[in-house]
Amino acid sequence: MNASPEPVGVGDTAITGIDGGRGVLTYRGFRIEDVVAHLGYEQVVRLLLSGHRPDETETQEVQSELRARRDLPPTVERVLESLPEETPPIDGLRTTVSAMDDVARVYPPTLREALELVARGPTLVARLFRQSTHASFVAPDQELGHVANYLWMVQGTRPPPERVRALERYFVLLGDHGISASTFALRIVLSTRSDLASAVSAALGALKGPLHGGAPPEVLEMLDAVGSIDQVEAWIDRTLDQRGRLYGFGHPTYRVEDPRATLLRSFAQEVAPPDRYALARRFEEVALERLTQRRPDQPLFTNVDFYGAVLLEGVGLPRPLFTPTFALARTAGWGAHALEQVAQNRLVRPPERYTGPSPRSWSDET
Ligand code: ACO
Repeated sequence: MNASPEPVGVGDTAITGIDGGRGVLTYRGFRIEDVVAHLGYEQVVRLLLSGHRPDETETQEVQSELRARRDLPPTVERVLESLPEETPPIDGLRTTVSAMDDVARVYPPTLREALELVARGPTLVARLFRQSTHASFVAPDQELGHVANYLWMVQGTRPPPERVRALERYFVLLGDHGISASTFALRIVLSTRSDLASAVSAALGALKGPLHGGAPPEVLEMLDAVGSIDQVEAWIDRTLDQRGRLYGFGHPTYRVEDPRATLLRSFAQEVAPPDRYALARRFEEVALERLTQRRPDQPLFTNVDFYGAVLLEGVGLPRPLFTPTFALARTAGWGAHALEQVAQNRLVRPPERYTGPSPRSWSDET
């Protein structure tokens, strides 16, 4: 009898390295602490897509390439206009991404398409948000960088530099994270030689869930439900007794604290109102203690979404934009993974384990 061929998963990647046991995260070999200290988001886009640290000329190139591609094609405008105003921005984003005619609907995706995805995302999300709040559209400002322009288009006022800096760091830290659930979805779709628009729609669908990119708004709902510092212990105990999850804690990869959580703790403090930050700190302290007491053999740690949510609130973004903002940051990684997948493409077929009955006779069944 012939042996079955090896099932194909998605495993090899040269983009982001994660050592979950030691808490080390690298983009193209550079530690995340160095990346966030030295590079802005547009440079990270270039780093993730091309694999090397951009010099001055390449930095200017990627900045102007992204600026030049911010406008939306007419087909997307028409889809946007047809959406009900109450459409949540994350759903609107998923719908309109699949209508982006020149974020190609043909295989294979190209570098140009990856850049278009990154460049147009903020315009789309800002437009969807303003539509949902009956506000008029704010056109992109070519004087502003990628992240500052996003805040400008959402808020309609010039963003203060400390908010731009905080959000820029958030974008850098969320730029990629290996083959997460959403990136896996993207790569599976591309493995069938489908197109980038379809792959990104699938990735957005996976990202939306509260165990993944849907966690940040849940973090704030949780902090609001707690209300005040003196209620933290009772609220956490009650939630865990009822087998509830504490959003912003736990990660399938890390066995120590995620280095992005460490960085975001201090970045969030710079923009969050002091009482919000104090409540978050106390919540974190009690959550870690109680989670460890309950599962001493499998300690859980603060993940990227806990202080990520506090930071997003601190820069003035409304909750319906938390998950879309995570998605915008991740478009850099999705572009890089799309190019990597097609460069080594094989149809993904993960190994499966059949747990049903052994073959049985049709006629014996009554
Ligand atoms: N709060 C309470 N209990 C938890 C938590 C948590 N945050 N995380 C895991 N557990 C418990 C589970 O209830 C489960 O207990 P059980 O075995 O008694 O049923 C056990 O730990 C194992 O849980 P799994 O979901 O199997 O563990 P995994 O490591 O695969 O989960 C996950 C990772 C989904 C992120 C989980 O920790 C979680 O739900 N966290 C909260 C949601 C969240 O913050 N998501 C964002 C993740 S980061 C990202 O996507 C960017």
